Amino acid sequence: MDGSVPAPNDLGAYWMPFTANRQFKAAPRLLVSADGMYYSSHDGRQVLDGTAGLWCVNAGHNRAPIVEAIRRAAGELDYAPSFQMGHPGAFRAASALAALAPVGLDHVFFTGSGSESVDTALKIALAYHRVRGEGQRTRLIGRERGYHGVGFGGISVGGIATNRRTFGPLLAGVDHLPHTYDRTRQGFSRGQPEWGADLADALDRIVTLHDPSTIAAVIVEPMAGSTGVLVPPRGYLERLRATCDRHGILLIFDEVITGFGRLGAPFAADRLGVVPDLMTVAKGLTNGAVPMGAVLVSGAVHDAFMQGPPGQIELFHGYTYSAHPLACAAAEATLALYREEGLFQRAADLEPVLEEAVHALRGRRHVIDVRNLGLVAGIELEPRPNAPGARAYEAFVRCYEAGVLIRVTGDIIALSPPLIVSEAEIGRIVDTLRDVLELVT
Ligand SMILES: Cc1ncc(COP(=O)(O)O)c(C=O)c1O
Repeated sequence: MDGSVPAPNDLGAYWMPFTANRQFKAAPRLLVSADGMYYSSHDGRQVLDGTAGLWCVNAGHNRAPIVEAIRRAAGELDYAPSFQMGHPGAFRAASALAALAPVGLDHVFFTGSGSESVDTALKIALAYHRVRGEGQRTRLIGRERGYHGVGFGGISVGGIATNRRTFGPLLAGVDHLPHTYDRTRQGFSRGQPEWGADLADALDRIVTLHDPSTIAAVIVEPMAGSTGVLVPPRGYLERLRATCDRHGILLIFDEVITGFGRLGAPFAADRLGVVPDLMTVAKGLTNGAVPMGAVLVSGAVHDAFMQGPPGQIELFHGYTYSAHPLACAAAEATLALYREEGLFQRAADLEPVLEEAVHALRGRRHVIDVRNLGLVAGIELEPRPNAPGARAYEAFVRCYEAGVLIRVTGDIIALSPPLIVSEAEIGRIVDTLRDVLELVT
């Protein structure tokens, strides 16, 4: 592999996503290979992956069964159209995913990413009501601070202001629940905060305001990840579920981050005991190795579409890369690897180790909150006056220079290592962060 740094001018063409391009290109950080828990950088550094790439490499990097499956697929069937055609791998991958999913989520619609999964789920929800003769149910309810990718549907129901404000009026008929975080009542919670179930009552108010018969779906991340790790209060999701049930509203869980063992169970729905009608996934579905997403759909929702003449296309929706053969091969191999290595249980076993390690940061410089669930932790820093995000960004760069990859969003540090992480590696990630916090201004 060519690990040489492109000459400065060669960095210009690539407009990098969610990146301060000019700052980055002045001091680039390039990853050139990866194996197990480590990246190698262009300047020969070994970087311990504290973030599973971007919350996706749950089985660790460069895993032989996944690499081999992709290689084999590429040499066998490079591409197959997925409209009015199929290939065996697509059906196998869908069956494997449905078998892993909570009971009742039996059907799988493949997409190419988390954003596509979210837009697909919202469209299925709208179309579901329409095919059942309730086409007036067009409203979608998201949540403040929610992240549902970057499609117009996703940013409309999403609640991160920076991701919305420059893109016009977005989808009409969307409302938002309040977010679930209150530091004064939940600060330094271990696992699910005790306070906050009542916040779900906001859904009853929204439903009353708009009239329940106008509402198609509610979408939430069961644990909000990208906004900076907001763990759902005990009882909160149960109340959302009950309100949706009372009013015939579909509940969508966006499990793009929480799926595939991140919370110590196959899905957050399993861990938290609340099953949605639709579930969006991506990332860990292929261990990040090939882009792929999916929407898991309940039998009741799926069957509502299967009522018309058999020759009729039931859903006018799909992507060129839905069920791409390489992605299906990667998904099958990934799900098998998770099972064979018992990685979801491993995440559950390591949860107390990560919890102890990160909560030891309480009282350290700049730390104003620590929270955790499964193999995820959020460490919130006091922002620098008039420079939100700058302090955490400095911590990110310093950790990288010290050989540990962390993720920051605003002034919140998120840790989400691959599920193969060892106790010693958890220790090293948190020790590095602790030392860096002493240096950060
Ligand atoms: C909850 C959630 N939904 C959707 C997405 C979007 O996924 P993608 O970046 O694959 O489009 C993400 C990505 O982080 C996510 O965390």
